Amino acid sequence: MSDLLAVDGLGRRYGDLAALDGVDLRVAPGDRLGLIGPNGAGKSTLLNLIAGSLRPTSGRIHFDGRDITRLAPARRARLGIGRTHQHPAVWASLPALDNVLVAARLPWGRFRAGRRAKPREHARELLAGVGLTGVEQTLAGALSHGQRRQLELAMALAGEPRLLLLDEPAAGLAPAEVEVLASLLASLPLTVAILLVEHHLDLVYGFADRITVLHSGRHVHTGTVPETRSSPEVAAAYAGVMP
Ligand SMILES: Nc1ncnc2c1ncn2[C@@H]1O[C@H](COP(=O)(O)OP(=O)(O)O)[C@@H](O)[C@H]1O
Ligand SMILES: [Mg+2]
Repeated sequence: MSDLLAVDGLGRRYGDLAALDGVDLRVAPGDRLGLIGPNGAGKSTLLNLIAGSLRPTSGRIHFDGRDITRLAPARRARLGIGRTHQHPAVWASLPALDNVLVAARLPWGRFRAGRRAKPREHARELLAGVGLTGVEQTLAGALSHGQRRQLELAMALAGEPRLLLLDEPAAGLAPAEVEVLASLLASLPLTVAILLVEHHLDLVYGFADRITVLHSGRHVHTGTVPETRSSPEVAAAYAGVMP
């Protein structure tokens, strides 16, 4: 199957620091790819470069065969790239339901939910899909941290992305909430490919078909879960030693 996302020699420098250094990556339609690596490995930088909120200093990004390296984030979202952030980005003073409605209608969204005959019903379904039933009218700012994460996921799904970039969705969640998240991730349709950045290794290993490991901005490994678990390069990366 042809690649949905192709990243070639992607790099981002901050002065002397290479936050990301010549990384190649392939994601096929419906793929479940885990992206791990110690703090500062360049995981968020890579997601930001793919989403377009950050510009690379080297390399190319193709989405669905099209060069999107210089495309604005809004254009990429319209092409089908959705994302959540390391710190959930929601409108605190709006009810949960309105957060989803607005996300579906934003100029950078794909208008899908907004175009539907019954957008409120659809937004309710999206909230139910991420486990947020009964809090539709609760202000997002009054939701728990875990609920805000679920809400941000519903907002990303409102754009009906073909590629979903998730940056540490389990961060700050209680163990029971991580289990809810795991079954939620497992229930997402295969029409969307998912790139999951996560420190919670059990969650990534349970979810992903393939794992890519970054360390100090470099790609050090891509393999299946068993290959990743037994990889000396991965063990070395997590021990703080460059392989
Ligand atoms: N805006 C920035 N200015 C300078 N350095 C940055 C900036 N953003 C990230 N970095 C550095 O780039 C490296 C990779 O960061 P990041 O992608 O956030 O790592 P990760 O998400 O894997 O923890 C780190 O060393 C970080 O300090
Ligand atoms: Mg990060």
